[in-house]
Amino acid sequence: MNPQEQIQILTDKINYYNHQYYMNSESEISDYEFDNLLEQLQALEAQYPDLVRPDSPSHRVGGAIAKEFESVTHRFPMLSLGNTYNAQELIDFDERVQKGLEGQQYEYICELKFDGVALSVWYENGVIVKGVTRGDGVRGDDITANVKTIKTLPLKVQATGLPVQFEVRGEGFLPLSSFEAINKEREDIGEALLANPRNAASGTFKMQDSSVVAKRKLDFYVYQFLSETDTFATHEESLHWLKSAGFNISDTWEKCRNIQDVLAFIEKWEDKRHSLPLNTDGIVVKINSFTQREQLGFTAKSPRWAIAYKYKAESASTTLESISYQVGRTGNITPVANLKPVHLAGTVVKRASVHNANEIERLDLHIGDTVFVEKGGEIIPKITGVDLSKRKDSFEEIHFPEVCPECSTPLIRKEGEANHYCPNEKGCPPQIKGKIEHFIQRKAMNIENIGTETIESFYQKGLLNSPADLYTLKKEDMEGMEGFKAKSINNILSGIEKSKEIPFKQVLFAIGIRYVGATVAEKLTNHFLTIDSLEKATYEELIQVPEIGDRIAQSIVAYFQDNENVQFIDSLKKAGLQFVHIPTEIVVEGNALEGKTFVISGVFQNFGRDELKTKIEANGGKVLSGVSKKLNYLLAGAEAGPSKIEKAEKMGVSIISEEDFLAMLVA
Ligand code: IVH
Repeated sequence: MNPQEQIQILTDKINYYNHQYYMNSESEISDYEFDNLLEQLQALEAQYPDLVRPDSPSHRVGGAIAKEFESVTHRFPMLSLGNTYNAQELIDFDERVQKGLEGQQYEYICELKFDGVALSVWYENGVIVKGVTRGDGVRGDDITANVKTIKTLPLKVQATGLPVQFEVRGEGFLPLSSFEAINKEREDIGEALLANPRNAASGTFKMQDSSVVAKRKLDFYVYQFLSETDTFATHEESLHWLKSAGFNISDTWEKCRNIQDVLAFIEKWEDKRHSLPLNTDGIVVKINSFTQREQLGFTAKSPRWAIAYKYKAESASTTLESISYQVGRTGNITPVANLKPVHLAGTVVKRASVHNANEIERLDLHIGDTVFVEKGGEIIPKITGVDLSKRKDSFEEIHFPEVCPECSTPLIRKEGEANHYCPNEKGCPPQIKGKIEHFIQRKAMNIENIGTETIESFYQKGLLNSPADLYTLKKEDMEGMEGFKAKSINNILSGIEKSKEIPFKQVLFAIGIRYVGATVAEKLTNHFLTIDSLEKATYEELIQVPEIGDRIAQSIVAYFQDNENVQFIDSLKKAGLQFVHIPTEIVVEGNALEGKTFVISGVFQNFGRDELKTKIEANGGKVLSGVSKKLNYLLAGAEAGPSKIEKAEKMGVSIISEEDFLAMLVA
């Protein structure tokens, strides 16, 4: 098979599995097999860049970096819709339609109005060629690389009987679950939170590095098919085709015979829409027949054949009972309003976010106030105003605390920042516990069997004051503690032991440098390779790295200037954590260790453990995680695990030193 055929087969295969997975929720092959296919394709594409197909699934993982997006003129202007806010306005619209169609029968299609970013995606001969933002309606930005990362968007469709050029339009969005996950991570690294899913989606589509976009799990609901020539007679027909061609169509649409049906659709979705995976702010009513659409035409701004109905913003009023101040891992103080429980948009609301001190001042909040709460695009409701007619003189004004509610350290507020911080990083209990929680999370050291409660008990008992203490925990420390049986103790210890194999990029994320999230950590490890060179990097060197800006660079420099942080990293190094980046591609050095297996234990003079692993693999050997009869060598450095040595002796496995190992390489 020639490379072109190989690329073709792999592309089609992977696109098929992708479609099955994302659109039909079926995984026909394992993640491992899938990654393998993708790697094979990427390797071929790297070798033969001219043969990369426009519908290659490698575009899904991104990689293209745009300095500036090119401006593109829309083939058909992207208009907006007229808005209505009540039944009467809709009835008026229906009357205009009736008049315009001069007595003809007509049908409407009702859809939900998705709250995201309007996008236009162009296809040529069934293959995706461009993704464009709405822009000013006439010209938009070419964000093709980012659009291609949307997993539910087909990169190629079967186009028999279709015009050579067509276009699909719809709403790009971040599912609520992805939005929450992003904000959780942002909070974790001390980044300002994204205001709502729509802003988050629009910011994501405009990111320069499409590989970062790919991680954000954008989605796209298609609601329109467009071409120069007539392809379908009705909108309904086009929706059916779009669905069968693999586009993501929200199944919420319905055909309505008259405006009464439309009003019933509106009522049906008023509450139910809150169970959808994205925010919606209304419905869109469209004439079904394309001929009739043509007859009705457009005004300067919007079509006469469609209109939007906006649901009223969900709001309720209730009593503000108190304000709590939460202290985050990075010391940021978040005020949270405790409310008298009230029903709002299908849930009972007891708490609302107030963001920061400015917001308390802006709203002039007093305890006991009757406040309005609203669920806008956000998931957590927010206070939007105060009913001053219910204010009593006895209601106490709220003063933002001057000291930390947890450790009484005076709070600080950096210039230009809205948030207050507790600077007592190393002594403030929620900050200490938060750092440990951050450290053990799945994306960081992935230490299983330790949860918030365990951290709390260990902290109370004085066993854990820093993540580094995890590596000095002993069985005896936990024995006798309530709720800690031999099995759970073993699980905890083995989870900690296993974390020593976690790659450097995750370790760097785990240590919790402010603004260094998982993605930034990966960029840094790829660039600097070792913690030592990252530590030595100057501000100027740091900002040379793509995606590393002023704020992150400053934060890294400041982190390593603090001696306590350097000591913390030293203790993690001693514990055997990975502080060297191992490139996935192994450069073969020789075959001196061909067929030999090794277990590495302890600390070495010339190598870090991960460097040793690379060395072994580069010379044809293999590294195993546990001592067994099949093992050839236990490579034991200083402070090698006594249990491993004992086991190796018992099983007759050779125990070798670092010197022995070096000798093997030159033998
Ligand atoms: S149809 C000619 N259908 O609402 C305009 N728009 O002002 C045709 N939107 O930003 C638009 N859901 O992105 C249509 N089901 C839907 C929609 C929808 C959301 C957005 C659209 C645009 C705005 C219209």
